[in-house]
Amino acid sequence: MKLSVIILAAGQGTRMHSALPKVLHSLAGKPLLMHVIDTARGLGDAVDIHVVYGHGGKVVKNRLKANAINWVKQSEQLGTGHAVAQALPAIPSENMVLVLYGDVPLTQLGTLKSLVDVANEQSLGLLTAHLDNPSGYGRIIRDKHGAVNCIVEEKDATELEKKVNEINTGMLVVAADLLSKWLPALSNKNSQGEYYLTDIVEMAVKDGININTVNPESSMEVCGVNNKSHLAMLERYKQRQQADLLLSRGVTLYDPARFDLRGEASIGRDVVIDVNVILEGNVSIGDDTYIGSNTIIKDSQIGSGVTVLSNCTIENSIVGDCSHIGPFARLRPETCLAEKTKIGNFVEIKKAKIGTGSKINHLSYVGDSTVGKDVNVGAGTITCNYDGANKHHTVIEDHVFIGSASQLVAPVTLGKGSTVGAGSTITRNVEANELTLSRTKQTTRSDWKRPTKNR
Ligand code: UD1
Ligand code: CA
Repeated sequence: MKLSVIILAAGQGTRMHSALPKVLHSLAGKPLLMHVIDTARGLGDAVDIHVVYGHGGKVVKNRLKANAINWVKQSEQLGTGHAVAQALPAIPSENMVLVLYGDVPLTQLGTLKSLVDVANEQSLGLLTAHLDNPSGYGRIIRDKHGAVNCIVEEKDATELEKKVNEINTGMLVVAADLLSKWLPALSNKNSQGEYYLTDIVEMAVKDGININTVNPESSMEVCGVNNKSHLAMLERYKQRQQADLLLSRGVTLYDPARFDLRGEASIGRDVVIDVNVILEGNVSIGDDTYIGSNTIIKDSQIGSGVTVLSNCTIENSIVGDCSHIGPFARLRPETCLAEKTKIGNFVEIKKAKIGTGSKINHLSYVGDSTVGKDVNVGAGTITCNYDGANKHHTVIEDHVFIGSASQLVAPVTLGKGSTVGAGSTITRNVEANELTLSRTKQTTRSDWKRPTKNR
């Protein structure tokens, strides 16, 4: 049977104290709602996804517009039953419907699959969990044979019902035609004046529909985010899960509690990652590479046998095999380092290709440049790439040696094998294999006296 997924995401999220709609807050680098959508997609290509939005709807739609989603507006939040009813007209009556929550990000695909498996036209699948502290949740009320009778919301529960620790996670699977029969019959005569989706369980029982329950492996899977404290807790849980997965694949993490992955990482064999490393977006790291502490790598490819020392920032860059980066190096977008390059401390590279074996070891800025192989860029060398209006290119050919504290005023080309004397300001092209320098002659004044302090 075909499956449709309805994700409820109309809640305001006032307790987040934020201008950003709750479901756009980020967990492990991805909006909460995106986690739910990605997991739902795992159920199959044919699954259609309907998101019920309300608060901050435009922002949510804009942020996730790349996804094939049927957006359903719920102008007034009249309850979960009302929310599902808004999406139902777009769903074929022969489909099964899975209800998920946009603020419950960590449900496992396997859990949803089990839930889908226990549901059909005669059976409703309900995801429930046993919690030590069930307060706040709807309680699952069973008869003396253990069959589910109904769900009672905490605010409507008797003292005895409140003692039940099996809770409603809110996630369920049910046939669309049953929903269209039951939803119009919901009443809002309860303590919150809302149309409760949970009331369909009692209707199902009356109609002779089985209620089959499934439990998640971990209660974290059904944990919703209502405030920043929940968000922080789930972030740590997710980060630990990701770290454990990498450890199980052989990555050395000196401290798995001080490692963050906010995206996807593909990491080779014998890679060592020191403490406080953050990987963001799409990162790949080759074999035998070391990543030093406090380093941030975003959307980059790091080769094999690379050493990245501490406190580096690498973004949208490629680092060739056996290169040596840092400490305190910054590789800005469109940096492409060939093999065996050396980028040392306080060096910034932007939009530049650096050839095999070239070294830029200390305190330099190289931007908008093409650097050949075996080039040595002396300490404090700057490519002056910006004239205040436009960016210009610098070409440094193979085997060039640039003396310290030189400025290369772009556009300029330093010919193959040329040498630039220290402290030069290069404004015109430098001839191959020659020494070029621009420096005022050194003079000595023997009549000069060092000033003394006034009394
Ligand atoms: C709901 C369940 C409760 C369950 C709990 C799990 C009902 C009546 N109760 O309670 O049994 O234990 O979830 O967290 O269903 N939403 C809308 N539109 C609305 C109302 C809610 O989109 O009109 C969305 C919210 O954004 C949220 C989700 O539905 O993502 C749950 O709503 P919430 O008000 O938090 O439900 P609870 O009262 O917690
Ligand atoms: Ca809630």
